[in-house]
Amino acid sequence: MTSNRSINPQIRKKIEQLRKQINYHNYRYYVLDSPEISDSEFDQLMAELQALEEKYPELITPESPTQRVGGTPAEQFTPVRHRTKMLSLANAFSLAELDSFFSRIERELKGGKIELVCELKMDGVAVSLEYEKGLYVRGATRGDGEVGEDITANIKTIRSLPLVLQSQDPPDYLEVRGEAYLSKESFKQINREREIENKPLFANPRNAAAGSLRQLDPQITASRDLDIYLFALGEVEGKSFASQWGVLEFMRSVGFPVNPHIRLVSSIKEAYQFCQTWQQKREDLPYEIDGVVIKVNDLKQQEILSETSKAPRWAVAYKFPAEQRTTKLKDIIVSIGRTGAATPTAILEPVRIAGSTVGRATLHNEDEIHRKDIRIGDTVIVQKAGDVIPEVVASVISKRTGKEKIFQMPRVCPVCTATIRRLPGEAVAYCTNLSCPAQVFERLLHFGSRAAMDIDGFGPSVIKSFLKSGTVRDPADIYFLSQEEIKKLVPHFQDKAAANLYQAIARSKNRPLSRLLFALGIRFVGSHTAEVLAQKFLSMDKLSQASEEDLTSISEIGPVTAKSLVTFFSQPENLSLIDKLKEAGVTMTEVSTKPSEGELSGVTFVLTGTLKSMSRKIAEERIKQLGGNTSSTVSRKVNVVVVGESPGSKLEKAKDLGIEIMDETDFLKLLKSKSS
Ligand code: IVH
Repeated sequence: MTSNRSINPQIRKKIEQLRKQINYHNYRYYVLDSPEISDSEFDQLMAELQALEEKYPELITPESPTQRVGGTPAEQFTPVRHRTKMLSLANAFSLAELDSFFSRIERELKGGKIELVCELKMDGVAVSLEYEKGLYVRGATRGDGEVGEDITANIKTIRSLPLVLQSQDPPDYLEVRGEAYLSKESFKQINREREIENKPLFANPRNAAAGSLRQLDPQITASRDLDIYLFALGEVEGKSFASQWGVLEFMRSVGFPVNPHIRLVSSIKEAYQFCQTWQQKREDLPYEIDGVVIKVNDLKQQEILSETSKAPRWAVAYKFPAEQRTTKLKDIIVSIGRTGAATPTAILEPVRIAGSTVGRATLHNEDEIHRKDIRIGDTVIVQKAGDVIPEVVASVISKRTGKEKIFQMPRVCPVCTATIRRLPGEAVAYCTNLSCPAQVFERLLHFGSRAAMDIDGFGPSVIKSFLKSGTVRDPADIYFLSQEEIKKLVPHFQDKAAANLYQAIARSKNRPLSRLLFALGIRFVGSHTAEVLAQKFLSMDKLSQASEEDLTSISEIGPVTAKSLVTFFSQPENLSLIDKLKEAGVTMTEVSTKPSEGELSGVTFVLTGTLKSMSRKIAEERIKQLGGNTSSTVSRKVNVVVVGESPGSKLEKAKDLGIEIMDETDFLKLLKSKSS
């Protein structure tokens, strides 16, 4: 052990000094884009620091500039609960919509000057970064807004991000939010390399950035040249702000990269001009933007305007209009979805639109094709806006040669040859075979998807291999596969990949009923409806016995959904699927979020240290919901001390007083047992 040897204070000082110098030059280079020293001088400083750290490893700190790329690859991403929800933004697509946004805020603020901050809307991946006493401690994705994934190590590889804030007096705790992105050039470079390696190409810089951040091995992320802009604060302890402009200035002053193209205006007209300007100039930027974000500057006014569960009411995202291009429609193929819906898809001569290459576009349904008079062989206008699936808008009739062919929906399914039927009065045609391989494939894909059972690594190629073997016919089958079987079924899988997937499948058994209901793909049951149902019935058994009346008595469930549910639970194949899932050990219940009748009444808890699965605030809420009390100090009146990671002196005190000590796992078990 070297940890106790005495080190010459000069060495410590030298190391400190080198780190400061490196951080400074790093900032000049990556954030200000104005280096003061040459690359080789910079490398020399790094080499000097590295040599000292090698000699004195006990002096290495996580925020040392040598530690940007480090650690061993992770097994999986751990969930992180955001202290405050990461919201999204309401959209505006025209001047009129911006006007009505402004009129609303004027009305609600009842007079007074309103200033607006205009910012570019970065088209990247939303992230949250946490700093404790000025040191970077955690980075997370947005996830569903409440719980994201821990990508601390990956974020750390972004060179422009300060690991130590440039401040003498940094806030005790600071959460900043922004967008990690890839420049257009880096995106091209990655795809060039992937092409050579015969790997599937990323569709656009945003997907490439997301893919790069979701790497278990930070070495890979580090090779991707990600960058970041910060534009918002989450929770802050020990500092307050008066305006968004002040927030941006503060962030810039402590070393965060803040986009330079920001503007403070005092009318919606000026904001609209900013939008117009950037709509034209977006091509000149080295990164992609998909609009402009307009925010009320004054934080007091923001507070008055407040927010909905999804988005703040003090901001709006002006989205650039869809881009259009013409190209050739080579063919129309029919693809079968998970419900059997047969959707015609246009196969196009690939064309670049709004930052990505489009080779396919939806044509919705047969009537739509005929209404627009779109024929195979036509020159067509294709449109794409942001996240929206590209679509064929119209044909260019003047370009017709007479050789174009009129499309007809095939009579049989192109995948399984079963009859394709279109019911009178319906626009959509369906493949009538429930076991059609295309339907089964799509159902499995949906079952494992992020918003459903969230099975990491259960993607299209794995599913294809599973289906090909015949071992997997329905979602329940995957729970009966051993790790060895998984390895055998997927051609390119090694032990590690098989183990990861096996564990991901096993973990998904613990998802709550709401996820399972959504995963089953019952018609009209989206994730919100699934949550409503799960909260109301709390178990699959109870829900499966509900009548249409029981269901429609719930305020958010209409007759169509009710009927669909009753039909679903009356079909023997669905019931046997549920039985099989039960047998596999898949959770069939939901924990109620309603306060129950004082299950923990009279019990006082103290929380110390960091809990992995939830914030302290949420933990306290859960205790209170169950009738318990919480306290911030340990005394004889306290019954239980819950201990998270790096607990403080409270743990010692609890031991002294002989108070019951509980770790996070037991605490979660307790909450679960008392809530059900
Ligand atoms: S403000 C509470 N400002 O857009 C509002 N968002 O639809 C927080 N985004 O996921 C967002 N550029 O990551 C804000 N200048 C900007 C932005 C921006 C991009 C992303 C953001 C969020 C999404 C919201």
